[in-house]
Amino acid sequence: MPAVVIIGAQWGDEGKGKATDLIAGRIDHVVKFNGGNNAGHTVVIGNEKYALHLLPSGILTDGVTPVIANGVVIDLEVLFEEIDALSSRGIDVSKLRVSANAHVITSYHRTLDKVTERFLGKRQIGTTGRGIGPTYADKINRVGIRVQDIFDEGILRQKVEGALDLKNHLLVKIYNRRAIPVDDIVHELLSYAERLRPMVCDTSLLLHEALAEGKTVLFEGGQATMLDVDHGTYPFVTSSNSTAGGASTGSGIGPNAITRVIGIVKAYTTRVGSGPFPTELDNDEGERLRQAGAEFGTTTGRPRRCGWYDAPVARYSARINGVTDFVVTKLDVLTGLSEIPVCVAYQVDGVRFDEMPVNQSDFHHATPIYENFPGWTDDISAARKFEDLPANAQNYVRAIESMSGARISAIGVGPARDEIIAIHDLLD
Ligand code: GDP
Ligand code: IMO
Ligand code: MG
Repeated sequence: MPAVVIIGAQWGDEGKGKATDLIAGRIDHVVKFNGGNNAGHTVVIGNEKYALHLLPSGILTDGVTPVIANGVVIDLEVLFEEIDALSSRGIDVSKLRVSANAHVITSYHRTLDKVTERFLGKRQIGTTGRGIGPTYADKINRVGIRVQDIFDEGILRQKVEGALDLKNHLLVKIYNRRAIPVDDIVHELLSYAERLRPMVCDTSLLLHEALAEGKTVLFEGGQATMLDVDHGTYPFVTSSNSTAGGASTGSGIGPNAITRVIGIVKAYTTRVGSGPFPTELDNDEGERLRQAGAEFGTTTGRPRRCGWYDAPVARYSARINGVTDFVVTKLDVLTGLSEIPVCVAYQVDGVRFDEMPVNQSDFHHATPIYENFPGWTDDISAARKFEDLPANAQNYVRAIESMSGARISAIGVGPARDEIIAIHDLLD
């Protein structure tokens, strides 16, 4: 009954989609347990490139049952757009199952996301504008709309009325927007009901039974540790638990079912949106990483902020998630650099911090203490064994492994499906 969790160990876009794809051929179910269509996973298979947002990346592999679990927030318009787009490219999406308890993103959540960001001005989070935060806020405030509500018009109307009551006052009186009519929302949501109905079930029970039968279940995290609402760089975070614990609460599977936690890290670091990022390179070196790594967001197209590898962040992620294995991606992007700095600790007002400072202001003021490693020039994209890598690339990987708190089990050397060096089996 292996239950394997894949999580981002930095600020997102580490290549989780590619890591999922790597093992998807050996799994039975793939579960999205947090976030929504704020995620963006690019998977390259042969000459085909797939960009997934709401559906888990494992859906691209034949025979896998994809599951959208209770911890996810679902924009139904996006769900059906993605299903249709994949179907038209020959991907079988008929097995998709959706939790009756997942919350639904509506147009008022998207509107509120945008207006609150504008209202925050300089303090804005830089959200994806997909309505993620307001939908989770409604969930916690107990005024959310769940998938199951869509199948009972009376209940749906009652809940939408309850949710819009206060929000319309806010929209009109504070944000100077038009009130949103209850009818519009109810009709929109009801329009999805018949298409949605056959997909909806008790996904916790489904996964429990799968695990009891000895099937392999992969939990595919969206976002990343440093964007987790509890453990990330709050308030510059997303609104869900994107750490490994979220796989349990976000799917209704006991934590003791989880047998493996795979943390994905880039060989350097990127971040989208606002918030602290000690190793950020706001200069030509950062631009070089952005161009070489094609660091532009899959979801919003925004240029990603780029910087060097941050070992305290990786160690923190290893601890928070219980990482058993790291997959390092994009090592190829570092090819051609004469020297590669790695952040080994921070300096805050003259004091050395070997671990992530607990105080947020300290992290905002942290300057990295770097150790430099010699680079390599040979193209590494054809390497398939660790020994195929140039000696300096091997040294770099070994060095970050020794600083990061768990073994490195695979190394990405290019975007394509087969451009990977497998060191330890990720499932066995
Ligand atoms: P996710 O959100 O964690 O799934 O990651 P994204 O898909 O948003 O961003 C990762 C990007 O890096 C994608 O465009 C991948 O195709 C690409 N990628 C993944 N692994 C590698 C790698 O080892 N080398 C290179 N050059 N690109 C990679
Ligand atoms: P994947 O799964 C990178 C960031 C946004 C913003 C903050 C809050 O592709 O790694 P939100 O819309 O979630 O309320 O925005 O979180 N963010 C991501 N950054 N990768 C992601 O997902 C992200 N999902 C959200 O840029 O700073
Ligand atoms: Mg992404």
